[in-house]
Amino acid sequence: MSREQRLQELQKAGYLNERGRAFLENNQPIPNEVADGMIENQIGQFTLPMGVAQHFVVNGTKYWVPMVTEEPSVIAAAGNGARMAFMNGGIKADAQWPRAMIGEIVWENVPDVTGAAERLKQHAADIKAIADAAHPSIVKRGGGLRSQEVVIVDGRYLKLQLAIDTQEAMGANMVDTICEAVAKAVQPWVNGELLFAVLSNDADQALVTATMSLDPMTIATKQMDGTTIAEKIVSITAFAEQDVYRAATHNKGIMNGVDAVVLAMGNDWRAIEAGAHSYASRDGHYRPLSNWQMQDGKLVGTLTMPMPIGSVGGATHLLPVVRINRKIVKINSAKVLAELIAGVGLAQNLAALRALVSSGIQAGHMALQATSLAITAGAKGDDIPKVAAKLQQVGRMDLATAKHILKHLR
Ligand code: MEV
Repeated sequence: MSREQRLQELQKAGYLNERGRAFLENNQPIPNEVADGMIENQIGQFTLPMGVAQHFVVNGTKYWVPMVTEEPSVIAAAGNGARMAFMNGGIKADAQWPRAMIGEIVWENVPDVTGAAERLKQHAADIKAIADAAHPSIVKRGGGLRSQEVVIVDGRYLKLQLAIDTQEAMGANMVDTICEAVAKAVQPWVNGELLFAVLSNDADQALVTATMSLDPMTIATKQMDGTTIAEKIVSITAFAEQDVYRAATHNKGIMNGVDAVVLAMGNDWRAIEAGAHSYASRDGHYRPLSNWQMQDGKLVGTLTMPMPIGSVGGATHLLPVVRINRKIVKINSAKVLAELIAGVGLAQNLAALRALVSSGIQAGHMALQATSLAITAGAKGDDIPKVAAKLQQVGRMDLATAKHILKHLR
């Protein structure tokens, strides 16, 4: 399909209205006053391509998934992973709910650190009241401070850790506001120097788990049978458990999918990244976030990771394109969005591992890489597919070859 046809199809199927379709078709920029209000020293806008991944069925619901990425093959691979899951009943996912975000308040040079720790514990009810008063609207919406922990770190730091239910928001501002208010109010009980008060991105109380169970037959390729591929997927994951170099790449593949949706939904992808990698090293050894095992003849994949995503707040309602993406994805709940994103991460991981252990990763990249090279070499219009096809035929994927082909074509 052409881009226009894709947009028309989405509109026909009720995922886009006329305004949304026209907005995307015209590549409309962010209104200048919005951009100016979002960041400092604004001088322009930076655009990335956005696509939709298909075949996603998560907890029985079908989704079109908006994805923003600069990397060729990511969207195709996500759809491919989702298609294999779809043939097996789709993806199941469950996000922790209610969830909590962590805030840390830390003091140093506390003259009597154990005494101060005791006093903070005794004042737990007062701290709860201070936190609630600092952000009454979240309390009204059913959230707010859920639990407190007092810890002495390295014998010299005093930490008050707060777990705050941020409801539909990712909640960074909310947690920071509450932490700063609490830090100020409890100062007389601590009597030390406040070092900092801020959200922690180690969001281990906002976890999500996605799973899929695949009949090996459904993951076979033309060259390799499904059982062999399934066993090799189990093996490459076991290798990643031992080898940090591989674990980092394994997780990068998962984040290819996760970040692309997080970005499309106007959320803070650095927060998701930070949470993912701290969770991956939670036992002191950096590990793959997903696990693949054979169970009763099925290949079972599981991905558990923090997903501090918001359906409100931040840029979610500021950016017009995010408002359109919310319509495409038809999700208004942070819990359901977290479940979908984890499903995308797992599908992306499946597609990458399957390619790696069978044909290798470059085979699937070839067509788009050839197109990118053709464009970089200066090809325009009809020349682009011609140069790309010739590049694939020749089998040498480099700029010099692309330029050479273009010159001869002209
Ligand atoms: C490329 O962006 C990501 C992969 O390297 C992931 C992986 O190796 O699992 C394909």
